[in-house]
Amino acid sequence: METIEHPRLMHAWADRVRAAGLRIGFVPTMGYLHDGHLSLVREARQRADRCVVSIFVNPLQFGPSEDFDRYPCAPERDAALLREAGVDVLYRPTAGAMYPEGFQTQVAVAEVTKGLCGRSRPGHFAGVTTVVAKLFNAVKPHVAVFGEKDYQQLAAIRRMVADLDLDVAVVAGPTVREADGLAMSSRNANLNADEREAARCLSRGLRAAQQAIAGGERRAARIVERAREIVAAESLAGIDYIELVDAATLRPVDDIRRPTVLAMAARIGRTRLIDNVILPGRELEG
Ligand code: PAJ
Repeated sequence: METIEHPRLMHAWADRVRAAGLRIGFVPTMGYLHDGHLSLVREARQRADRCVVSIFVNPLQFGPSEDFDRYPCAPERDAALLREAGVDVLYRPTAGAMYPEGFQTQVAVAEVTKGLCGRSRPGHFAGVTTVVAKLFNAVKPHVAVFGEKDYQQLAAIRRMVADLDLDVAVVAGPTVREADGLAMSSRNANLNADEREAARCLSRGLRAAQQAIAGGERRAARIVERAREIVAAESLAGIDYIELVDAATLRPVDDIRRPTVLAMAARIGRTRLIDNVILPGRELEG
């Protein structure tokens, strides 16, 4: 595995690979890798001849009172995992190379970033789409893989790719969970033992809501209420939002006749966690 630390060197590699007629698969990350990330790497490898993974903790997507300084990192462990996973290039640009003095351009997606996490994290998604646009330009991937765990991020990136005519196929990978249901996240490392136990309430809440749907419930308010009861009963959890939204527009819906996403964010101690379930139309038949 080769490590590349500057956009110019990344360009040169990508140009060589493209000139040889090979397809580039790409998985952008902020490191502290877990099986969720590695599942996306497997997907990218299956869809391309060469696989690039980036690790860059992007300051632009963290608010002033957020956890940029506490974001976990384990560069050597990450590199070993990626080597083992058969990754060809680890792209690890420095903050100076990504945001040199004078940097002032942003790529912002307007509508789908307004609700959900966008409400409590102003500027976050513009930080994400800006860095992903830069990473796409550096890596020149044919296909890029993102996790459904960050559903709103996935929606913003799909929108950006469509709106800016970017020549990248965006592929989504399903959320990978711990044995007890907790969605894997680098931020889980910041939970103490009690918080880790409490964090189960997110996936439990989603499951309870799904059970209500399986039992015939179609009204958004009732479905959300089922999830809310479970999360609210956990004293260490503070709910940011629990919402049922249209899977494409991310606008709130009143019932689940169309494909929807039940999305939630909650603070467990100082750590903010998100989770969701996608409710495809076909699940609603019968
Ligand atoms: P990060 O949180 O490191 O996540 C990198 C990718 O892994 C994202 O596409 C995310 O959705 C996916 N992912 C995280 N947890 C997952 C899980 N449990 N199962 C499946 N996929 C999972 O998301 C970011 O970094 C950044 O915002 C980034 C896109 C790299 C831009 O800075």
